Amino acid sequence: MVNSMRISVIGGGYVGLVTGTCFAKLGHNVTIIDVDPIKVQSINKGQPPIFENGLEDLLKENAGKSLRASTGYESLGNAELVFICVGTPPNPDGSANLMYIESASNSIGTALKTNPHYCVVVVKRTVPPGTTEKIVQPAVLRASRKTESEIGFAMNPEFLREGRAVEDFMQPDRIVIGCNDLRAGKQVAKVYEKMNAPVIRTGLTAAEMIKYTSNAFLATKISFSNEIGNICKHLGIDVYEVMKGVGLDQRIGPLFLNAGAGFGGSCFPKDVSALVSLAQATGETPILLQSVLEVNEQQPHRMIALLEKRLGNLSGKRIAVIGLAFKDNTDDIRDSRAIPVIQELLRRGASVAAYDPMARPPMQKVFPTIEYGSSAAEVLRGSEGCLIMTEWPEFSRLDTEFDLMARRIIIEGRRILTCDGAEGICW
Ligand code: UGA
Repeated sequence: MVNSMRISVIGGGYVGLVTGTCFAKLGHNVTIIDVDPIKVQSINKGQPPIFENGLEDLLKENAGKSLRASTGYESLGNAELVFICVGTPPNPDGSANLMYIESASNSIGTALKTNPHYCVVVVKRTVPPGTTEKIVQPAVLRASRKTESEIGFAMNPEFLREGRAVEDFMQPDRIVIGCNDLRAGKQVAKVYEKMNAPVIRTGLTAAEMIKYTSNAFLATKISFSNEIGNICKHLGIDVYEVMKGVGLDQRIGPLFLNAGAGFGGSCFPKDVSALVSLAQATGETPILLQSVLEVNEQQPHRMIALLEKRLGNLSGKRIAVIGLAFKDNTDDIRDSRAIPVIQELLRRGASVAAYDPMARPPMQKVFPTIEYGSSAAEVLRGSEGCLIMTEWPEFSRLDTEFDLMARRIIIEGRRILTCDGAEGICW
């Protein structure tokens, strides 16, 4: 039997919604707070405002029972823990914008004034080292007029992959709890009591740095594989065979070694850039991290170069772009590698026909004038070239559809096809 705790989650976005719903599943009493009344209404009805595997079932199971959503901060009057899950969008220079974290901290402080219990404020989102201690803590204490003996502070980073967030939450590799006082750490640990995962206790800033470092290391693995892949391509070697042999070394590990069009999404590009600006602010030149970003920027252009090598001048040619989101199983197009690819194709005068099982509506906002199809076959018909940008399982079955093309020239940015005749970006 789990020790049920009263938890408020600030921000009903992707991280807040998954975290809050999973806390409810663990047996806690959760209120998700969001400024958007439509989102709040949808959560309370058990309908997830975003698509995430397994989330709808969990939400339906818990909404209206141990999970509710609200636009107001009333639940903080009685909360034992408050998790900050609001966004940290990038500033133009790549650093993290902490505006929402700051305003949430002020609102939390004000709402905690009347809370008679010891309460711990926990930062869940990825924030630069020092944020919890230097921004959140003083703002909350100032607004609440309370002391550290009444309000504790912790940093508990999330390691959730889009599309696998529920699974990642429920079966974590580790739980990191950063705090500067024992009592706060103990209260956070109680939330995860039921879970079977190692708990790592660190200081506040180390926990913040663990999250940046994890994402930067994973991004480095990808750019490293891409660089090796680019070399392998010249040498006529299959980089996937190479990485299979390399990844079996336990010191390296087999995951995140898939070479291809590079990493996208709302985390890796943003977090590595933030770490670069953080390093530069200390006077360091983060050569390795800068190269990780540089390799990543180049990969989409390599696909265009390959296409041009096979097809000649792209002007006036119909090119099918298959896969528009930053990866499969999501409609999220943030920093998707398909964006620079389409931009470059249009710059060279090609006519683009795009398909994605889920990401058409958001991509239509970015490129309103290109053609969109409702199936791969539709965009392949009459195309002279095709670029595969994500690993949707349905793409692995494509074969006869390529016969609809005017010329069967296929460049793969992800290793997914099983049919003959495709050329990989770096294999
Ligand atoms: C990433 C991390 O994996 C999570 O642990 C972290 O919590 C999350 O960021 C975050 O900071 O919130 P996510 O961005 O959802 O999760 O997606 P990933 O599955 O990690 O993929 C990121 C990108 O890397 C995708 O574009 C994917 O196609 C690419 N990738 C991934 C590769 O190019 N090669 C690989 O081997 C693996």
